[in-house]
Amino acid sequence: MKGGGEMSKSKVVLVFGARPQFIKSATVIREMIRYRINLTIVHSGQHYDSEMSDAFFSELKIPRPTVNLQVGSGSHAIQTAAIMKRFEAVLVKAKPAVVIVPGHTNTTLAAALCAAKLAIPVAHIEAGLRSGDMTMPEEINRILTDHCSSLLFAPTQTAASNLEKEGLRKLTHLTGDTMVDVLESAFPLAERRQTSILDRFKLKTRAYVLVTLHRPSNVDDPIRLGQILLGLRRVADKLPVLFPVHPRTRAKFASLGVLTKSKHTNIAMVPPQGYVETLALLKNASCILTDSGGLQKESFLLHVPCLTLRSSTEWPETLVSRSNRLVSNPKDLPREILSVALNEDLRRCLHHLKNPFGDGHASRRIAGIVERTVNHR
Ligand code: UD1
Repeated sequence: MKGGGEMSKSKVVLVFGARPQFIKSATVIREMIRYRINLTIVHSGQHYDSEMSDAFFSELKIPRPTVNLQVGSGSHAIQTAAIMKRFEAVLVKAKPAVVIVPGHTNTTLAAALCAAKLAIPVAHIEAGLRSGDMTMPEEINRILTDHCSSLLFAPTQTAASNLEKEGLRKLTHLTGDTMVDVLESAFPLAERRQTSILDRFKLKTRAYVLVTLHRPSNVDDPIRLGQILLGLRRVADKLPVLFPVHPRTRAKFASLGVLTKSKHTNIAMVPPQGYVETLALLKNASCILTDSGGLQKESFLLHVPCLTLRSSTEWPETLVSRSNRLVSNPKDLPREILSVALNEDLRRCLHHLKNPFGDGHASRRIAGIVERTVNHR
């Protein structure tokens, strides 16, 4: 029975640890509870600041994790190894029928490797993404995770085709993207709160640029980071810039001696925002500059022009009709940002794009497949 049925005895473990994973799992967890799946939630502790972790649990009504592995920060090897060591002990005790891993962080790969080595089937949410850029840690994580998984939940047709090319067609389920489900469920609240959120930052609708940057390729090199800041100052001469600063970026600014309060009065550097705030700020922005995967998609879904400060993307579906544009040289930022931010025709045209990310029911499909897998083995 959908949403009801007998209490499953087989345990399912869902493991996550970083901000985007909490968001993309929220509606999947909600659906798994509806299906009465015997779910254990494990937090790796990869993100530990309240504004990067706790805030999302209360906002998206995600049940508290049963276990927190508290791994914290470290090099890739240290972080991945610490998660594996601690997660293996959890798996040996819990003996789940399936381990669910969302996204493509170090937590995703570490948990998938652990489960696969214990012969526990792995289910990967957001399987099949490929940017083609092996210098991104996330690209390594997603390829390896897909190849040790038994259930691959592809968010788009492109992702499903990527998996087919790698010989993984039989394991693939084209479910749609769970981030559409989450966005649809939170958007009414974002709309209700948008006026007070804009007032808080003294912003006006379609008269500011939203910026989020945290990828090592942008923020770890002081010269590149300096060029980005210079570009943002040029933009701020014409339009206000709101920059919620990720902890990684904040740490780099601190080491460079850049004050979090920018000298330019038209640039506001603020702490990372919650999900509802981010949706409201994105929807009302003239455009967004980002290096996040999730925001490329969210801006597509909310019809807001996006510039991605990277030379590749794992979401090629967004690169249509100038909805999203890749910018690799920070020196081009002022020209690129101002050309899309002030372009009302572009904005109108984005409303007519076909949505390739699914119908808002991906989470229900995923929960249904997991339920059938654990209860009818
Ligand atoms: C991670 C994910 C990335 C995801 C991003 C979202 C990997 C390889 N990367 O990147 O896919 O898009 O999360 O935010 O898994 N830090 C804090 N407080 C926190 C978390 C991090 O101060 O709560 C700082 C630490 O200095 C840490 C640095 O941020 O060293 C980077 O954190 P890390 O977990 O390595 O990856 P992210 O850059 O956040």
